[in-house]
Amino acid sequence: MRQVDLNLEVPYSVRIGHGILHEISLPHRKVAVLADGAVAETYGNTVAVALSAGGSDARVYSLPPGEDAKAVSVYEGLLSTLARDGLTRDSAVVSVGGGAASDLAGFVAATYLRGIAFYTVPTTLLAMVDAAVGGKTGVNLPEGKNLAGAFHQPRGVWADLDTLATLPDRVFREGTAEVFKHGLLANPGICRDVLAPLFGPNYPGLEATVEAAVRVKAEVVARDPFEKGERAYLNFGHTLAHAFEAFTHREIPHGEAVAYGMHYAAHLSYLEGGTDLSNLTRAFLTYQRPRPLPPLDLADLLPYMARDKKADDEGLRFVLLRGMAQPYLARVGADTIERAWTAFQKDLPALAAEAVG
Ligand SMILES: NC(=O)c1ccc[n+]([C@@H]2O[C@H](COP(=O)([O-])OP(=O)(O)OC[C@H]3O[C@@H](n4cnc5c(N)ncnc54)[C@H](O)[C@@H]3O)[C@@H](O)[C@H]2O)c1
Ligand SMILES: [Zn+2]
Repeated sequence: MRQVDLNLEVPYSVRIGHGILHEISLPHRKVAVLADGAVAETYGNTVAVALSAGGSDARVYSLPPGEDAKAVSVYEGLLSTLARDGLTRDSAVVSVGGGAASDLAGFVAATYLRGIAFYTVPTTLLAMVDAAVGGKTGVNLPEGKNLAGAFHQPRGVWADLDTLATLPDRVFREGTAEVFKHGLLANPGICRDVLAPLFGPNYPGLEATVEAAVRVKAEVVARDPFEKGERAYLNFGHTLAHAFEAFTHREIPHGEAVAYGMHYAAHLSYLEGGTDLSNLTRAFLTYQRPRPLPPLDLADLLPYMARDKKADDEGLRFVLLRGMAQPYLARVGADTIERAWTAFQKDLPALAAEAVG
């Protein structure tokens, strides 16, 4: 087992390994296990059995699978259920599932009785290296994703790599975008791992790769827990990604949109004087095989890009790379945005052909 420590005001550890679900025990009498519906009967139950063996009164609550868990109605229903079931300020919430489950469960824990203890058991690659670590929690509104939420750090994270065995292949590959992103931002070795021929849920070095990717996020979060500065670097590739997701009504899922977005950001970075990393981001697209993009003009996407949280009154700002592991935040002119788009679009037909072939 490996461990990454988050040096925050209240420190906590991320444990990464095989079969570690069986070892979970917590110093709380009552524990609500909020588990994604796809894994409630399997990993949710395993966690509850381990907690009970350790003396807790643990109960599994099954959530709608995936993003549907992040509805305000689900959130509201759970608050009432926890109240009826007598959870107190000393009780705890444990999420079991992907980023959707941890976002929802974390927000329940952040607000129930003004905040109770929260722990996460991520069961997707994305949640292990990204969503489960760092304390951002929240739900969606009809007006948009993640529009209500809170910062509420978990007190512990257990990433059991065995849970990835049941993940659909496409969902696993989607999650690799955030792993690769952490490599580009801070650790080239991670990028080499992801592009290795055998990379997948059974990759022999997966434990080390996940640890390295968690470490990148943990270090950034420890330095900037409330996203006042450097934490925005984790947004690399996300300005265009969010526009793709919104424009296609989420037909292009997040991890695939980020893969495209990182390739665009690599072109932008090069035009702004950085090293050309577009061969690397292109190789990642070849590995990930995202769904093809519908025909799009830059003009279709600009209104969505303008809603980016890094944009201010003076215009759009992007996370760029001077070189490998050298991120910075920059305002980019309309002309460069356009030229990078042209370069990006030139690469698409070849990628589509590779995906079919
Ligand atoms: N809080 C943060 O810092 C942060 C960061 C990144 C993403 N997010 C959020 O995370 C969410 C996306 O997370 P995700 O990619 O993990 O997707 P997800 O939670 O929607 O899970 C993807 C799918 O996999 C299923 N699933 C989960 N684990 C499984 C397993 N082990 N075996 C089989 N099926 C399994 C789920 O039922 C779902 O259908 C988004 O809502 C996003 O906003 C949050
Ligand atoms: Zn992301």
